Amino acid sequence: MKKEKVNGESDVMESIISLAKRRGFIFQGSEIYGGLAGTWDYGPYGVALKKNIRDIWWKRFVSDRDDMYGMDAAILMNQKTWQASGHVSGFSDPLVECKKCKHRFRADQIDVALFAAKKCPDCGGSLGEARQFNMMFKTQVGAVENEDSISYLRPETAQGMFVNFKNLLDSFHPKLPFGMAQIGKAFRNEIAPRDFLFRAREFEQMEIEYFVNPKDWKETFEHFVGEVKAFIADVGLDAKKVHELEIPDGERAHYSKRTIDFEYDWPFGRKELYGLAYRTDFDLSAHAKLSKVTLEYFDEESKEKFIPHVIEPSFGLDRTVLAVLCDAYTEDEMGSDESKEGKKETRKYLKLAPSVAPVKIAVFPLLKNKPELVKKAKEVYALLKKQFGAVLFDDNGNIGKRYRREDEIGTPFCVTIDFDTLEKGNGVTVRDRDSGKQERVGEDELVTYLLKKI
Ligand code: GAP
Repeated sequence: MKKEKVNGESDVMESIISLAKRRGFIFQGSEIYGGLAGTWDYGPYGVALKKNIRDIWWKRFVSDRDDMYGMDAAILMNQKTWQASGHVSGFSDPLVECKKCKHRFRADQIDVALFAAKKCPDCGGSLGEARQFNMMFKTQVGAVENEDSISYLRPETAQGMFVNFKNLLDSFHPKLPFGMAQIGKAFRNEIAPRDFLFRAREFEQMEIEYFVNPKDWKETFEHFVGEVKAFIADVGLDAKKVHELEIPDGERAHYSKRTIDFEYDWPFGRKELYGLAYRTDFDLSAHAKLSKVTLEYFDEESKEKFIPHVIEPSFGLDRTVLAVLCDAYTEDEMGSDESKEGKKETRKYLKLAPSVAPVKIAVFPLLKNKPELVKKAKEVYALLKKQFGAVLFDDNGNIGKRYRREDEIGTPFCVTIDFDTLEKGNGVTVRDRDSGKQERVGEDELVTYLLKKI
């Protein structure tokens, strides 16, 4: 991101949010009713970007491996799940309320001086005492409302895997080490949702619970440090903006004996992108105790019976989408050859890796009113669409404007059919988004040429 082009961090976020809305990536949830804080709706390009990221994750962590089992557990779970996991008693943030304006804040996010003086950041009124606020969304299942019908929207996908551990053992008989992997929605009633997709109330997680013999936890932990970094590279994030933070004793989640946060340099500061935790046997032991179901593993070789320990790499999917957008958002000056007036202009665009770009290639006839050009362009479009899928046809407006539209949504390549294609038979032009450079490529070589780049 070229920071010198903008006036400050919040401007960068504003530009990203505005581009995301204008170009159909992400909209405010329930916007026509004034929105619902902490919710976001994905439009066509956002869905495609998110799906590409999700597919890359699934390929790396599930389909490319022999030791990983995919899952898709229900969002609503028996409330005992959350009693055993510690979420009913402990999944809370400190909340303070202003006695005057009644606004509520997360105590640890208020300016230290204001908090010490017990002053409301909004109206200057006096703040009450901090109390713990449970972040789970509570609901009732069925028509009868009583203690037994309580359920929660899951605050993490992890527990859906722990409660299916025995099912997996019984149906697949896997040998340690092995993992369960799941992608799905999670819900947290965040006191202060903020920073676009960064802290939402409804979001998606991509999680792995990897079961090991306790003696092997350290090497498995290191293996996943490498895998998290490899995934970060897969989606095209700048490794220099990602930092590992060892979470000290006393600051880790109740279930963890070691945690590394992978932090990212967001436009609003360095904060968590992903987490990697050594959850020990905390969850399986707690579920075994409350459910009275044995959740042990029998090692055929050593004839030992034990509860496996867990290494958990946990990724926010929406946070990945946001990091990818922040990383890709670029402003530069595009050369005169592409601007209508022949002078340089500022271009705002997404430098997305081809692997995640919602549209990989756009195909244009040079002129819309020349049927022979349009016909040929449609043939090329059909050929590329069959091969690459995410290909778009555009004949609207002048060629410079079409390039700008594609740059804005991060399309890496634009293919133009001009009179030389028809009259001289010397191929098409392929224009590179980042450099703006155009290359003439023979029609017969076009697919191979693009396959090498995408
Ligand atoms: N199962 C472990 C777990 O849920 P976490 O650190 O609370 O750990 C894991 O969450 C990941 O989920 C985070 O690293 C982040 O990427 C994402 N995440 C957590 N809360 C979020 C929120 N409110 N909005 C968006 N993403 C969130």
